[in-house]
Amino acid sequence: MGGHGADGSDESPDQSNVVPIPRDPTVVRPLGAHDVESVLAIQAVAYEPRYHESAEAFTAKIAAGRECCFGLFKGWKMAAYLVAVPLADDSTLSLDSSQVPGVSLMMAMVMFIHDLAVHPDHRGRGLGDVLLVHLHETAMRHGVSAYRLVAVQNSVHFWQQRGFVVEPVPPPAGYGPEAVVMSRR
Ligand SMILES: CC(C)(COP(=O)(O)OP(=O)(O)OC[C@H]1O[C@@H](n2cnc3c(N)ncnc32)[C@H](O)[C@@H]1OP(=O)(O)O)[C@@H](O)C(=O)NCCC(=O)NCCS
Repeated sequence: MGGHGADGSDESPDQSNVVPIPRDPTVVRPLGAHDVESVLAIQAVAYEPRYHESAEAFTAKIAAGRECCFGLFKGWKMAAYLVAVPLADDSTLSLDSSQVPGVSLMMAMVMFIHDLAVHPDHRGRGLGDVLLVHLHETAMRHGVSAYRLVAVQNSVHFWQQRGFVVEPVPPPAGYGPEAVVMSRR
């Protein structure tokens, strides 16, 4: 049985040209302070407790990183995040600190990738790379091509596959002796 169309006819509206809106869209967007709760939830399952940072530390880093911190959302739920801060030199950010020596992208010489985490349910599908591409596009737009990070939890191989090399310097305080400073020029 056909229903009544908008024009009062007995035919159902033609659905053949309707673009379906996906129920579980994948969205990447810059992080804001309101995302910190979701970041903490992923941190809790992605990192050993000794690497956990407070809400205050994340809020400060996201504020300093503004256009360089991204969340990847699936069906409105965060599945992965990237926190990066533009720096004026080859320094490193301290773990769990709200003192963030970030500079504006215009003044940046180095992009410090502070944290990349994918929820365990979503790993192995390249979501980390999706976020890294977003960061790279932002960095390139501002002429920043140098990256630096502190690799933890056996992630050195992951970063080497993405062109990072080990720097012959000790890890910054708080990371533990097995952390590895890496860079990409
Ligand atoms: C690192 C991380 C973000 C990568 O997630 P992802 O984008 O889903 O990447 P994948 O799972 O597709 O992994 C890509 C490759 O890196 C390897 N890899 C990733 N993390 C690894 C780890 N901790 N140890 C060893 N290998 C790892 C994978 O085996 C895979 O190798 P392959 O391409 O040769 O198969 C994710 O493992 C994670 O969130 N880890 C916990 C947080 C963390 O330690 N972040 C790095 C801090 S410096």
